[in-house]
Amino acid sequence: MLNRLRENFSFAKIYAKEIILSNTIFFLIFSIALQLSLVQIFITLGLLFVVNLYFIDVVGKKQKEQFDTIRNIIHKIRNNEFLSPDEIKLEKHLVELEGDIKGMFLRTQNDISNLKKLEQSRKEFLGNVSHELRTPIFAIQGFIETLLDGAIDDEKVNRNFLRKAFQHTDNLNNLLNDLIDISMIETGQMRMSFRYFNIKDYLETIVNELAPHAEAKNLQLVLRPIKSKLQLFGDKDRLKQVMVNLISNAIKYSEEGQVEIIVEEQERTGRIIVKDSGIGITEEDKERIFERFYRVDKQRSRAVGGTGLGLAIVKHIIDAHGSKIEVKSEYGKGSEFSFALKK
Ligand SMILES: Nc1ncnc2c1ncn2[C@@H]1O[C@H](COP(=O)(O)OP(=O)(O)OP(=O)(O)O)[C@@H](O)[C@H]1O
Ligand SMILES: [Mg+2]
Repeated sequence: MLNRLRENFSFAKIYAKEIILSNTIFFLIFSIALQLSLVQIFITLGLLFVVNLYFIDVVGKKQKEQFDTIRNIIHKIRNNEFLSPDEIKLEKHLVELEGDIKGMFLRTQNDISNLKKLEQSRKEFLGNVSHELRTPIFAIQGFIETLLDGAIDDEKVNRNFLRKAFQHTDNLNNLLNDLIDISMIETGQMRMSFRYFNIKDYLETIVNELAPHAEAKNLQLVLRPIKSKLQLFGDKDRLKQVMVNLISNAIKYSEEGQVEIIVEEQERTGRIIVKDSGIGITEEDKERIFERFYRVDKQRSRAVGGTGLGLAIVKHIIDAHGSKIEVKSEYGKGSEFSFALKK
């Protein structure tokens, strides 16, 4: 009883000043008006004291109930026990506070789900990296082991095994370089250096470098005519990474026909298009090919040394140019990747 009173009193403490003041005024007016005797004053004071005790107890109790409800709600939010904001209810006069708490709950829920997504994507990324590293390392180990077990003296296979092991070290190197790029881009450490450059000369050099890859697959790599004075704005080195990946993809995923590089001049931009007559991409895959490590046909891509990081890097670089990489494709007929650069 005493404890309860003490507890309720401590909750009503914030009203103590108001209660004492109003009672003193009331008491003064009352005793002056009625010209009370000393005895009457003591009795009235006693009565007033009891009434006040009761009053403070009631106010404190109400206050405590409200605090308890709020504390309970915060506790439940922290322990993720609410499913929807509608479960949060306060008394009518606290409707504004209720709205604030609901807002806080929704933000917390959003933060938690973002954190979960991040955690999931971090796990997936680590899993993918380990898996991709393991593949070439196992292959290299296998070739070296076979050579050590005697194949080194077999003139028919030894060079071939060494060449294959070397190819896998190359894949490993490519993967590591891609990973370094992705991490630099995602941590904001990749410095871009934007300049105007002559797009015709630039693309000619890249096409000449990649022509042997196309020829090796009996594909034609064609650079369509470009206005010789056209200057576009961008980071040449980073855009080279973009062009090499887009053209290499076009070659990798085509069996016959041609790969065309087209520059379409528009009012304020030049659109660079890489068009192939290859296997094409389904609507469903079109959404996903820019994700890290996503490959439509893992076997086929890996066989040609792909890690599925190329388009993720392309997307980042084009985004950093304030542009957007677009893809049009008809499954079985071919694909077209394009992006615009400022003129
Ligand atoms: N021109 C294309 N035609 C058909 N499919 C394509 C084409 N370009 C990309 N793809 C599909 O998108 C996937 C992702 O491409 P991305 O360039 O990111 O990876 P990759 O070429 O497999 O490997 P990497 O570029 O890292 O060496 C490819 O595995 C392929 O399935
Ligand atoms: Mg690629």
